[in-house]
Amino acid sequence: MKPVTDLSESEAARELQQLAQELAAHDRRYFRQDAPSVSDAEYDALKRRNAEIEARFPHLVREDSPSLRIGAAPSESFAPVAHGVPMLSLDNAFSAEDVEDFVKRIRRFLGLDEAPIIFTAEPKIDGLSASILYENGRLVRGATRGDGQVGEDVTANLRTIAEIPDRLSGAGWPSRVEVRGEVYIAHADFAAMNAAAEAGGDKLYANPRNAAAGSLRQIDAGVTARRPLKFFAYAWGEVSTPFASSQKEALEHLADWGFQVNPHSRRVTDVDGLLEVYRGLENGRAGLGYDIDGVVYKVDRLDWQGRLGAVGRVPRWAIAHKFPAEQARTKLLDIDIQVGRTGALTPVAKLAPVTVGGVVVKNATLHNADEIARKDIRIGDTVIIQRAGDVIPQVVGVVESDRNDACVPYDFPTVCPCALKTVVTSETTSAGAETVVRRCTGELACPFQKIEHLKHFVSRRAFDIEGLGEKQLIGLFEDQWIREPADIFRLAQKDAVSLKKLKDREGSGDTSVRNLFDAIEARRTISLARFIFGLGVRHIGETTAQTLARGYGNASAFLAAMDLVAAGDAPAQAELDAMDQIGGAVIEAAQAFFTEPHNRAMVQRLFDELHVQDAEQPKTDTAIAGKTVVFTGALERMTRDEAKAQAERLGAKVASSVSKKTDIVVAGPGAGSKLKTATELGLRVMTEAEWLDMVADG
Ligand code: IVH
Repeated sequence: MKPVTDLSESEAARELQQLAQELAAHDRRYFRQDAPSVSDAEYDALKRRNAEIEARFPHLVREDSPSLRIGAAPSESFAPVAHGVPMLSLDNAFSAEDVEDFVKRIRRFLGLDEAPIIFTAEPKIDGLSASILYENGRLVRGATRGDGQVGEDVTANLRTIAEIPDRLSGAGWPSRVEVRGEVYIAHADFAAMNAAAEAGGDKLYANPRNAAAGSLRQIDAGVTARRPLKFFAYAWGEVSTPFASSQKEALEHLADWGFQVNPHSRRVTDVDGLLEVYRGLENGRAGLGYDIDGVVYKVDRLDWQGRLGAVGRVPRWAIAHKFPAEQARTKLLDIDIQVGRTGALTPVAKLAPVTVGGVVVKNATLHNADEIARKDIRIGDTVIIQRAGDVIPQVVGVVESDRNDACVPYDFPTVCPCALKTVVTSETTSAGAETVVRRCTGELACPFQKIEHLKHFVSRRAFDIEGLGEKQLIGLFEDQWIREPADIFRLAQKDAVSLKKLKDREGSGDTSVRNLFDAIEARRTISLARFIFGLGVRHIGETTAQTLARGYGNASAFLAAMDLVAAGDAPAQAELDAMDQIGGAVIEAAQAFFTEPHNRAMVQRLFDELHVQDAEQPKTDTAIAGKTVVFTGALERMTRDEAKAQAERLGAKVASSVSKKTDIVVAGPGAGSKLKTATELGLRVMTEAEWLDMVADG
């Protein structure tokens, strides 16, 4: 395999496309058919290769990139929606030659010699696509793109977007029509969102597209409603009757029905015309107020689009002419060293603020010491930074002509900012390249790692303590009030003088202190799985924590087992090893963590503050105990996660695909192939209401 550094732009684009397809196929086999065909290590290697190519060519990050799929699984929280007409993606053009080839291919295919072809050239909005189904003019369902065949049902969330009409206006709409377009966030709204996040001590969004994707995929549509999402319509899927004969006419109808269509679309008749629109938009893109990452050229006549059809997942009648990544020059003021939870030191460029394509950039990633040395980046240099697609801004290189004698090569620190020593470890990437990672060996003796641990501890999926954002946590840590998780639960017992000080702290009045104490008190009782996950042991993520919780049943048993594992007790290690999906990495990490006396003492002090609930053991005396259940289609009265948890509590096994072994299929609106298979196999199929009735007494 070619090293990533040797790939040309078009080779990279091609490989990213292959990787997207390959990984999507593996995901389908793994998650929907429960039949993976590659090992986890092979799968991870493909994902790493994908990430490395994307890091080098950020502007080639695809909309269906495996790196943008959370946990790779089609989310459990939203019901799947099979698109009536697949949501295609677009082939890319990077040069004028690519555009000429595109037009030539079309001429050849249609058998046209000199006859003019009209094209539309539309800005390629950098957001995420959505498909919205209208029946008799009413919005009935909305979905994300997903893998193009199956998306996620985000109807409630899409309904909150003001630019998506609930009822179509105007006339001439088919009784059934799927309107497609892009959900995005404008620059000004993005800046306001990040300013609010910063004020609240919350994590900042990397860019508008990330913010839009995160906002649309909220479990609680109330949260989506407060986000400034917008929508441009530019395409359609299933229609009960054709409603236009050209792209232009279709866009006019979409506008008439109440949608925003982009005002910068143009119609042209040749390559020169296309390139002129491209250059115009490239020059004007920073002033548009939202991100675009290229121009989409489409054959205007819909009958010709039909004749041209698609090859694989891309239409022959359209292409995306991509802009190069947006770049800017600015001064490198300093290099900050950030310490991660596992002690890895990551250099971050502190920049003189500069606007890149409408977004103000102050920080950029420098990856690692190798990268700084390879590019010979020095503090005080003028650097070129770039921002593209879905990644954090990067330092591309140095403007050497601007360098003066004061700029000396950067000495990567050999001690952690906490002053403890570091070691260099060499880690192999999937491409076979060695990267050097410098890690602080201090673990919990390192205040930076301690803060990262605390951040993890209070995070949403762990103890979920609202009101303890990053800023508050760092403040309380620096004032020595919270040095370890147990301290959080002792906060309210501070003497009156300290409490007064807490109230006087910047911005925290009486009410917010009371709210914080309430939030903390509410978490004093905690599930065993969250307790285990909250400890932040390496390799013990949420799923592993759940497995351990179920396996050991209660906190005392878990801690006793960990002590034995730490002491090298073979039967205890074998017991752990026998648990589902648990292997060497987890055992090693658990041993390393619990052997350290200060870690064990820290866990004990925390445990003494809490009421850790026993893990619920699945029931054996319910109507569904021992049965295998599959949920398909939309659930209306509970989320997928809730439905699954409830079924498991009542002793059922929840599977993702239908087979002879399935006992019950719960089918909601939009159920597709799984329902069909269930009917063919003669399985028991029920509605959500029937299911809820059945489990009500469980
Ligand atoms: S047309 C069959 N038009 O780009 C073609 N797509 O890389 C369907 N996009 O999935 C897409 N602006 O999310 C089209 N004016 C535009 C677009 C656009 C942004 C996105 C869309 C699509 C992706 C393909």
